[in-house]
This record gives sequence, C-alpha cells and structure tokens, in this order.
Amino acid sequence: IEPYLKGRCIYLVGMMGSGKTTVGKILSEVLGYSFQDCDTLVEQEVGEVSVAEIFKLYGEDFFRDKETEALRELSLMHRLVVSTGGGAVVRPINWKYMHKGISVWLDVPLEALAQRIVAVGTDSRPLLHNESGDAYTKTFMRLTALFEERGDAYANANARVSLENIAAKLGRR
Ligand code: S3P
Repeated sequence: IEPYLKGRCIYLVGMMGSGKTTVGKILSEVLGYSFQDCDTLVEQEVGEVSVAEIFKLYGEDFFRDKETEALRELSLMHRLVVSTGGGAVVRPINWKYMHKGISVWLDVPLEALAQRIVAVGTDSRPLLHNESGDAYTKTFMRLTALFEERGDAYANANARVSLENIAAKLGRR
C-alpha cells in the first residue's frame, strides 16, 4: 500500500482499548514508518505527567486543547503511524488535521473493550473513573455512554476495520 499512501500518515482511531497502540506499532514496522502515540506527545508537552494526572490537575478541556495541538504538529509530518486518543475524533478541527493522512477506525465490540480494559485496570483512563458496580459492568456502562456520543465521529475515518469485516473478507476467498 506504500505507493497509495505516498508517505501520508496513518491515523488509528477508536475507543479506548481498541488496540490502536498495539496495531500501530506493528503497522509502522510493516510499512517502515515511525510510530507516534498522541497521548504520549501530550504527556511530554505538558511535562512528563500522565494523561490521568493532566485530567486531574488541569481538566479535560485543557487536555483536549493539547491533543489538538499535538495533532496539528503531527499533520505536518510524513511516514508516521499515529495512535490517537479515544476522544480525538470528537473535535471537528482534529479531523482537519487527520484528513491530511489516512484514518482507520478500529471498531471493536464494547464487550471486548470492557474485558480488555478491566484486565489492565482503569487507573490510567480518567474517563472511566467514578462509576459504581463491579469493574466490568461499570466499565461497560461508561464505554456505552461514550460510544453513544462518539459513534458517528469514528465513522469520519477513511476505513473501518472490524472483526466482521475481516471474517467476511476471509470467507470470500
Ligand atoms: C480518552 C482516551 C485515552 C486518553 C484519554 C481520553 C478518551 O486514550 O486520550 O484518557 O476520551 O476516550 P486511549 O484511547 O489510548 O486509551
């Protein structure tokens, strides 16, 4: 796909736990591109503080402004695979930057996301704090609410990768 990409960046979008970082690292190796994690850039920019701390100290709007700034900087670069934060799709201006490259939505069922996130814990994911109930149920409920707000925004991506898509393609061979 390199001749088609012409050095443009690939932006992986999707909910928390959808595998953007894992898939992004592998994809960057396959393509011979560099890998960048947007959350990590924001953490470095703010001064080596975690995303959870940024939310706690400065609030979500501050984080979102930094995220937009990081995406603007990334949009000036080439030959990168970028793992974006799960909420990067919400602000229309972020799409102005991401549409300079190719965006791919990793669409994973919410049940699978909740299972993966519970397995690693929610400490690093501030938007999943403060729910009552058992860990799986509260994570699933919160993810469902976030997905209701954001589902349409993920669909702005140039391509969607889901297990059904892959199974359907394999089945057609
Ligand atoms: C967020 C997802 C996180 C991080 C922040 C907000 C979201 O990134 O950007 O906690 O709004 O969904 P990951 O998707 O990499 O967990």
